[in-house]
Amino acid sequence: MPESGLDVLIRQTQLFIDGQWIPAQSGKTFDTINPSNEEVIARVAEGDVADVEHAVLAARRAFDEGPWPRMDARERGKIMHRFCDFIEAEIDELAAIESLDNGKPVKDARSVDIPLAIECIRYYAGWADKIQGSTIPVRGNFLCYTRREPVGVAGQIIPWNFPILMAAWKWGPALATGCTVVMKPAEQTPLTCLRLAYLAQKAGIPDGVINVVPGFGPTAGAAIVQHPGVDKIAFTGSGETAQHIMRQSADTMKRLTLELGGKSPNIVFADADLESAAEGAHIGIHLNQGQCCCAGSRLFVEDSIHDSFVEKVVDLSRKRRVGNPFDPTTDQGPQVDRDQFEKIMSYIDKGKREGAVCATGGQRVGDRGYFIEPTVFTEVRDEMAIARDEIFGPVLSVLRFSDMEELVRRANATTYGLAAAVWTRDVSKAHILAERLRAGTVWVNCYDVFDAAAPFGGFKQSGFGRELGQRGLDAYLEDKTVTVRLG
Ligand code: NAI
Ligand code: MG
Repeated sequence: MPESGLDVLIRQTQLFIDGQWIPAQSGKTFDTINPSNEEVIARVAEGDVADVEHAVLAARRAFDEGPWPRMDARERGKIMHRFCDFIEAEIDELAAIESLDNGKPVKDARSVDIPLAIECIRYYAGWADKIQGSTIPVRGNFLCYTRREPVGVAGQIIPWNFPILMAAWKWGPALATGCTVVMKPAEQTPLTCLRLAYLAQKAGIPDGVINVVPGFGPTAGAAIVQHPGVDKIAFTGSGETAQHIMRQSADTMKRLTLELGGKSPNIVFADADLESAAEGAHIGIHLNQGQCCCAGSRLFVEDSIHDSFVEKVVDLSRKRRVGNPFDPTTDQGPQVDRDQFEKIMSYIDKGKREGAVCATGGQRVGDRGYFIEPTVFTEVRDEMAIARDEIFGPVLSVLRFSDMEELVRRANATTYGLAAAVWTRDVSKAHILAERLRAGTVWVNCYDVFDAAAPFGGFKQSGFGRELGQRGLDAYLEDKTVTVRLG
């Protein structure tokens, strides 16, 4: 699809509240930028406190009085499947908008992000009529049972790295359980979320069940977090914002699930299949321009294979094609915005100053758009900033190890705990490490394998609560215990 003319695809730029497309009460808009050329794609209504108030009232009414939590659970599932049918029918258009707004290669949006999003919503559609409590053998002549009821209005605040997929992870369990939603997409990437809301309405999701309020964090985001009519917050993003949200939501005692960043160790032993490990190390860091919470940004390589393995990884980085996300041969597009671009470039600079060796990359690509070369640093030491901080870009730090005990200690010596990977042919080594690594996900001989049925989330400061899988429903449910005197 040619890049010019894509703007005709963009039809939803207003707030979506109570089933209506409306401007912000302030009349304000903000620009959403194409990170490939730094030009404005569209002006989007900028929600603020008053719009959040409107959206929460709509979501509240839809929850307290509306049909969604009251209808047959199976019917909710059916409507969710219909929603997915509409997403599937528009997959090319959605992929194009996602790519335009975020910068990711359109082929990735088309073949990874959106199929995973559909899988997630269909998975939770299947759960809608399988959420059930238990009967409990209590003392005395009583019948005691539990009901699992929807938590209420969910405030959902998502980032820009996987806009469609993050919306699906949040909407899937909320819709299945009968909750209603006020979502704030990231200010960098509001467009596909708005289109999804349009498709949700077309599929028959009642007015007020899904509300989308684009805007900025400190205004629209904070208003959602503070609103007493919101029962629960689901957030994905930075640790700093998460801490702020925890403090701000304390007054109204909101339930929280937080999915935050990482500095995930990707560990390669000499006895691994080194070709696939190199591929895994490469994809583990560079997928999505390095903008993945679970990026394998610390590559631990066993001493005896270090040099030859690094050569393979560097070689793959050099071959990675950086450029126009609409070109089907492109592997890597631009970073999402100027802030991220500058943050990453400053870490590259820091890495060089701290004495790491920039084995490949390290430069901006071109002079327009936020493109950065796939970058690999070797001779990285644990205390360097590039080995400790989340860079959230295509920058890999390679570290050496020789002793297993020491490796475990170093791999766990981080405030994060989102993911980890181990590459080895030794089954017991793999399982020992799977147990000892303090992370919510451990991949063995693979990386970035996601499935809607498998829970995902963090240890330590990578957050709490789990998304996906049966565990992902818990965050949207309250347990109610009913005790009935019999005779
Ligand atoms: P952020 O955490 O500030 O933004 C994520 C979402 O939170 C956006 O929708 C934003 O508008 C909203 N937000 C910001 N401040 C808020 C507030 N006070 N109250 C409520 N909502 C608020 O992340 P940002 O600034 O986009 O990126 C900074 C860094 O965070 C990145 O460089 C990266 O290291 C990390 N990050 C991690 C992500 C992940 O998937 N875990 C995703 C995005 C960023
Ligand atoms: Mg921020």
